[in-house]
Amino acid sequence: MCGIVGYIGKRDAVPILMEGLQRLEYRGYDSAGIAVAHAGSLRVSKCQGKVRELEKRLPARFKGSPGIAHTRWATHGEPSDRNAHPHCDSANRFAVIHNGIIENAGALRTRLQADGVLFRSDTDSEVLVHLIAAMPEGPLDVAVRAALRLVVGTYGIAVLDAARPEALVVARNGSPLVLGIGEHEMFFASDASAFVRHTRSVVHLDDGEVAVVRTDSFETSTLEGDVTAKSPLTIAWSSEALDKGAFAHHMRKEIAEQPDAVRRTLSGRLERRFQTSHLGGIELAARELLEVRRIKILGCGSAYIAGCLGAQLIEQLARIPAHAEAASEFRYRNPVIEQDTLYIAVSQSGETFDTLAAVQELKRKGGRVLGIVNSVGSTIARECGRGIYIHAGPEIAVVSTKTFTCTAVAFALLALHLGRIRDLSTAHGDRLLDALSALPEQLEGIIAREEEIQHMARHLASCEHAYFVGRAAGYAVAMEGALKLKEVSYLHAEAYAASELKHGPLALISPETPTVIVMPRDDLFRKNVSTIEEIRARRGPVLVVTHPGDLPTPVDGAFEVPASEPELDPILLNLPLQLLAYHVALQKGREIDQPRNLAKSVTVE
Ligand code: F6R
Repeated sequence: MCGIVGYIGKRDAVPILMEGLQRLEYRGYDSAGIAVAHAGSLRVSKCQGKVRELEKRLPARFKGSPGIAHTRWATHGEPSDRNAHPHCDSANRFAVIHNGIIENAGALRTRLQADGVLFRSDTDSEVLVHLIAAMPEGPLDVAVRAALRLVVGTYGIAVLDAARPEALVVARNGSPLVLGIGEHEMFFASDASAFVRHTRSVVHLDDGEVAVVRTDSFETSTLEGDVTAKSPLTIAWSSEALDKGAFAHHMRKEIAEQPDAVRRTLSGRLERRFQTSHLGGIELAARELLEVRRIKILGCGSAYIAGCLGAQLIEQLARIPAHAEAASEFRYRNPVIEQDTLYIAVSQSGETFDTLAAVQELKRKGGRVLGIVNSVGSTIARECGRGIYIHAGPEIAVVSTKTFTCTAVAFALLALHLGRIRDLSTAHGDRLLDALSALPEQLEGIIAREEEIQHMARHLASCEHAYFVGRAAGYAVAMEGALKLKEVSYLHAEAYAASELKHGPLALISPETPTVIVMPRDDLFRKNVSTIEEIRARRGPVLVVTHPGDLPTPVDGAFEVPASEPELDPILLNLPLQLLAYHVALQKGREIDQPRNLAKSVTVE
């Protein structure tokens, strides 16, 4: 989704902002723009298309400081040069960039137009700059606050006043904004990746906060003007983590990073002495956890699917009824919140609007919620106040890979912890600890056999449609496999519980529609063999992801993953499907890291 970046300091802002925009590209966008103050006036450049287009279009000697820049993901008004941000007032004194949606933009626009304001774009965001410009002369933050009090909606905004370039003003309500504290210079952005090369000291703004950012200081306050206290955090990763390194795509790099990412998720959390896991961040004592009667997991997209795996892990290991639901659906159906239910919000970015709204709804109704989140200090992590950080490191490709795996591992740790408080035996706990420790090496072994998957990918690359099927935990793996394939290859891929195949989808099985079957060697293996036979009887191609051993029936391709403890098998079975999606997309020449129409962090409804 839209990205904001800003700089104030002694250096020329332009190269810093352009690099920041490149760092934010992964969020998904359709246009980009920049505004800087120069000798008391505004210099603005913006256009539809990629940041490299903007770079080409920058006039010669385009310099200045401070400055703000933006990548736009269209909501109101088509992607175009005129709708790109920044937006300026009629006198070209103020420039504003905005993420989010101004819901009463129509009414505000009509009022401003009645006062003679001429609009230059179709966006909701433009009302902000005209409102600010219409405020009485005075400090910029006072004008911004007054304007924001008229606004209904969500925003992360940054405002530059070319007549008073000694400060920038930013504010947030529902769209992330983080300040970067440098040495005699300050940065801000939608996420820290935009400026981490310059500083790792960050301050996250909360909803309803406004910050005045100067070269040597910043001051935060509420929309009403009451000062708020903030202390900086240090982010754990450096800018190298954001580069592709020797890989052609971030997605492929992030797949390769999984063994190390899982090591970090596990680090310090395996409690050998008591055959359990140690999860300090959940801040719930054994006594409180014993009172939990149900677990409800909320997330969107891959985070929701990781929640489906998590629910199965919890039911299997702790015997607590657990269920995952799409956060977006949950929040809209006036959910019943129960005191003895533990709610878990899952989010890589920690900024997904629907998941955040679900957490807020839960808290408003008195529910207990903990987060499983990648992005440290993100809004969902702070809103939950407790939980498990997965420590997967930054994920730049729009599609989730390493964060899906690490989230599943975090659920395994939680399920083990809950299980050992209840009836899970010490022997079972021991076996799980061994199996968890073995995961990184097993993942490495799978990645090393990429060529086999390249081969399988050819079966899919020539088709338009594919099914992914599995039973129980294998079904959740199939769901994630289908999602990954459709996101990066644009093939129509549908996931089904294998048992449901004959209740409908079998009608579509044909030589042109391959089926990928996730079939661990568990109690359901024989049933999956029957599924293969049903599909082959309709001349449908079959690819399987399974455990080592002979298959009693021929298939068109098979990839074997090493066995783990049965509850952890899905984590390993999923990895070949990530590689499969990657190679199909590669063979089809897709834009793998930034699939069309998708954004990394969906911060609007
Ligand atoms: C799929 C994918 C999305 C995200 C979803 C939630 O590959 O990346 O489906 O999983 O948008 O995002 P987070 O986890 O940031 O809340």
